[in-house]
Amino acid sequence: MDEATLQATLANPENLGEMTDADAVGTVGSPDCGDMLRMWLKYKEVDGRKVIDKASFQSFGCQTAIAVASMATRLIQGKTREEALQLSAQELSAPLGPLPPMKIHCGQMVEGALKAALDAESASPAPITPTQNTAPTLSDSLPSHNPGKVKIVFTS
Ligand code: FES
Repeated sequence: MDEATLQATLANPENLGEMTDADAVGTVGSPDCGDMLRMWLKYKEVDGRKVIDKASFQSFGCQTAIAVASMATRLIQGKTREEALQLSAQELSAPLGPLPPMKIHCGQMVEGALKAALDAESASPAPITPTQNTAPTLSDSLPSHNPGKVKIVFTS
């Protein structure tokens, strides 16, 4: 894994934070470590094709998950739902180089959140607001009595 790229991405993560006007939202938790990641998607129409306009994320996860999520939100811009569904965890984390075995699930968590958001959109053609089917923020999803074991990334 490219440590310099990891640190540079963490120093200035892109697309971090809730998207209030999102068309779709997906949330996954990793059974490997208990971390969670939520991703929001906004679509637009370009030349008759519906493509991802922008994406954002929130993470209760490790640094690798945050870096991969940041890269993924950039990578999927301009892609159709079908194109984005083709992306593997390896492709989403490619700028970091091969992840060590103990970090592979971090990239898979990002892939899972992306696919959950892509599926959420296809299941309901009407825009989905985060409050319709999920808690609006990850902290709302977590039990209030268990704050000690998660890493919280505050967004501005
Ligand atoms: Fe849990 Fe990386 S260690 S997402």
